Amino acid sequence: MKRGWHVVGTVRAGARARLHDLADSHPAQVTIECVDITLADQLVALRDRLACRRFDMLFVNAGTVNRNPADTIAEVTTEEFTHVMVTNALAPMRAIETLECLVTEAGLLGIMSSGQGSVANNAQGGRELYRGSKAALNMFMRSYAARPASRARALLLLAPGWIRTELGGPDAPFTLEETIPDIVNTLLEKRGRPGLEYLDRKGRTVPW
Ligand SMILES: NC(=O)c1ccc[n+]([C@@H]2O[C@H](COP(=O)([O-])OP(=O)(O)OC[C@H]3O[C@@H](n4cnc5c(N)ncnc54)[C@H](OP(=O)(O)O)[C@@H]3O)[C@@H](O)[C@H]2O)c1
Repeated sequence: MKRGWHVVGTVRAGARARLHDLADSHPAQVTIECVDITLADQLVALRDRLACRRFDMLFVNAGTVNRNPADTIAEVTTEEFTHVMVTNALAPMRAIETLECLVTEAGLLGIMSSGQGSVANNAQGGRELYRGSKAALNMFMRSYAARPASRARALLLLAPGWIRTELGGPDAPFTLEETIPDIVNTLLEKRGRPGLEYLDRKGRTVPW
């Protein structure tokens, strides 16, 4: 808000989020829309509602983890597997493909990935389903980036680090307040650079 941006943030229907407090305190800058990103028709409806707007940035943040992240990949239920893969890998790509037309040509298309999506860095294992879903997301975004129509675009997969949120849990070393400024700076710096990059919040390259 301090940077004067106008932001359309999304929540799921019925959910009261911190975003509502921001919208209450900055009504001229923050608008809230409802979308469940796993529902393709809701993404299309969102695009239609925003059709007269153009954005400098589209960033897909939504993500999830299975109830018992320590389960091995064969221990997770098929239902959980489907839910996590759809939410973390399929839905963000659908959001990008559905909403890309709202973003200026020089604008940024970004998705919240995770360092745990790095195949190269996975020496420790753990969180097998979550890791797999973010690795799948990274691969889908690489395929998107390889399309001729995407090549001039600034594309980002962000690995924000371990942050104290509902998903990150109470043991995470960093708060949102400590990490958001770095994330915003990295988004702004990436905006001027076409092509896909997988970066941490300090703007450093993460190995695929
Ligand atoms: N925290 C970390 O340490 C960490 C590290 C690396 C990457 N990440 C990634 O960062 C992103 C944000 O996670 P977080 O840590 O802030 O976790 P969080 O507090 O659990 O937030 C996840 C957000 O995603 C939303 N969401 C989930 N499924 C959705 C759906 N189908 N449609 C729309 N929204 C949906 C949730 O909405 P509701 O409020 O309605 O549930 C919630 O706002 C995720 O992609 C996560 O994988 C987090």
